[in-house]
Amino acid sequence: MATLKKMKKRIPFGTISITDKSKGLIKDILDSNRVSSGRYVRELEKSFARLIGAKEAVAVSSGTDADALALAVLHDFGAKREDEVIVPALSFVATGNSVLQAGFRPVFVDVEKDTLNISPDKIEAAITKKTRAIMPVHLMGKPAEMDSINNIAKRHNLFVVEDAAEAYGAAYKGKNVGTIGDMAAFSLYVAHIITTIEGGMVVSKRTDFAEVLRSLRSHGRACKCESCVLNVSSGYCDKRFQHGDNQDIRFVFERIGFSAKMNELEAAIGLGNLDRYHDILNKRRENLLYMIEKFREFKPYLYTIEESPHEKIGPHAFAIILGEGAKFSRNELVSYLEKQGIDTRNLFLSMPTQCAGFGYLGKKIGDFPNAEYIGNMGLHVGIHQDLNKEDLDYILNTVREFLLKVK
Ligand SMILES: Cc1ncc(COP(=O)(O)O)c(C=O)c1O
Repeated sequence: MATLKKMKKRIPFGTISITDKSKGLIKDILDSNRVSSGRYVRELEKSFARLIGAKEAVAVSSGTDADALALAVLHDFGAKREDEVIVPALSFVATGNSVLQAGFRPVFVDVEKDTLNISPDKIEAAITKKTRAIMPVHLMGKPAEMDSINNIAKRHNLFVVEDAAEAYGAAYKGKNVGTIGDMAAFSLYVAHIITTIEGGMVVSKRTDFAEVLRSLRSHGRACKCESCVLNVSSGYCDKRFQHGDNQDIRFVFERIGFSAKMNELEAAIGLGNLDRYHDILNKRRENLLYMIEKFREFKPYLYTIEESPHEKIGPHAFAIILGEGAKFSRNELVSYLEKQGIDTRNLFLSMPTQCAGFGYLGKKIGDFPNAEYIGNMGLHVGIHQDLNKEDLDYILNTVREFLLKVK
């Protein structure tokens, strides 16, 4: 009898759910010729705000823009160019880039190896007279220690902007991630739980912040309407000449802005996706919790982030980190998984010391030991809605096989 060969599978890192509703809306939008930011973008913003439990939501063209614009709002509220924003040393590089794009200087603080998030104990030492905000990242959907962060911010009169790009469905002490700081930025990039293909969203409870965000996404012009009457109905804009003689609101630039609007086609993808939000979230949560539990057998060679009783991890992807004494390298594990058809991504880098662009800050390897450790030893794989238990068992079996070979 022929021996049964283990069937090689393909486990993609991400997936996208484009619904029939989205396809129908896209056809309507194209037929109508009204394609730039208008009623569907506004509808997406309203639904998104309801879902997160925020008063305001402002759609932009990427998660990076969401981070940058949220920070840039602070220029209207006392911040000066070249002021400082505290961010974790470990994140997707967009977090650090966005601080610079907003006109601030990033000040990096090391993370904790078990949570991957900014160490609250190290934040205060990084605060100077120029610090204006702390931007914690809920990496891999694990909520940052928001009580400590908010307390520090309160003591030093700082804003808190959550980078919630990876944290859909995450909760901290009963509060939805995204509603705990002054503002929060989400990414709507493909493979995120809500996607518009490319896109981002800033949420806040403050209407004055939302108004500035709407100006910022459109070059800093004086327009702050929830949607532009010209794009929604080709109506007459009665605010157009309210800035005085010879002034046109579309050419009154109140602040340094961005070109970061979302278009109607992207909003249509998002609106269809939102209808499936709870199904997607539940399936991913089920997958994540299954993987967290099963993965404990691989300690001390490999570990992942755990969920504590006070929180819910947003099921973005599954982190895998080599234990201290592992006798194999991250790239050996990555090659083994990839050869077995399992997509992997590295678990980001220490921005100040492992990303060349931040070299100008003069930091050196060893300054952020935990972020650097994860930068060398971490990876992540998919746990998305199109993976079933058999797929997850395939990942687990492949890791088991690898460890048996190298341990
Ligand atoms: C933590 C974090 N911040 C910001 C971003 C930027 O989002 P985008 O790729 O939509 O620009 C990402 C990307 O996924 C991210 O993981």
